[in-house]
Amino acid sequence: MQSSSQQPALSPHGDVERPLIPEAFRGFMSSYFTGVAIITSVDGDGRPHGLTCNSLTSVTLSPPTLLICLDERSGTLSAVRSCAGFVVNLLHAGGRRAAEVFASTKPDRFDQVTWERSARTGLPWLVEDTHAMAECVLADIKVVGDHAVVFGTVVNVEIGAGSPLLYGSRTFTGAPELDARSGGGISSRRREASVAP
Ligand SMILES: Cc1cc2nc3c(=O)[nH]c(=O)nc-3n(C[C@H](O)[C@H](O)[C@H](O)COP(=O)(O)O)c2cc1C
Repeated sequence: MQSSSQQPALSPHGDVERPLIPEAFRGFMSSYFTGVAIITSVDGDGRPHGLTCNSLTSVTLSPPTLLICLDERSGTLSAVRSCAGFVVNLLHAGGRRAAEVFASTKPDRFDQVTWERSARTGLPWLVEDTHAMAECVLADIKVVGDHAVVFGTVVNVEIGAGSPLLYGSRTFTGAPELDARSGGGISSRRREASVAP
């Protein structure tokens, strides 16, 4: 009997090493629905940067670590590299406009949203458009092709109300069964908390 290390891993038909064409890969990934985040950071001059991002994944609980994949040409990635930290702003269903603004190439993205400096790292976070946020300290960066896989250690979270904005089939949408609870955000939960008995 062959041991598993002696068995071929693949049974190739044709040129198995040839990568799929990008359009087919995009089509495959477009059927994978995700939440939508805006990643925010600051550059060496303290200027805020941010981009819309759906490549967010939890990596491990110990230490609490997440990853995002950023285009090597991204201005936000340069900021993350220079200040060694970033904030993950999870958008609620009412945050669609912010998602569109931060997916654009406009230089004035932060003029079009309400934002504050976060408590722990002092990085920008979008108080009105998010239902949750995580402050991260840069842990590692691995470059794969034309993207950087950015690992962050989570040092603080704020969790509020509201259902998430989703992205799939190249479209933004609300979570179907949660639509009635959309909107709200962290600041509204703070307001609710401040009037609670
Ligand atoms: C739903 C959605 C998800 C996106 N996810 C990512 C992502 O994970 N990584 C990335 O580099 N760009 C992503 N983008 C594209 C960026 O938001 C966009 O290129 C942005 O203008 C980059 O800004 P910057 O160069 O100032 O950082 C996404 C766009 C959309 C609409």
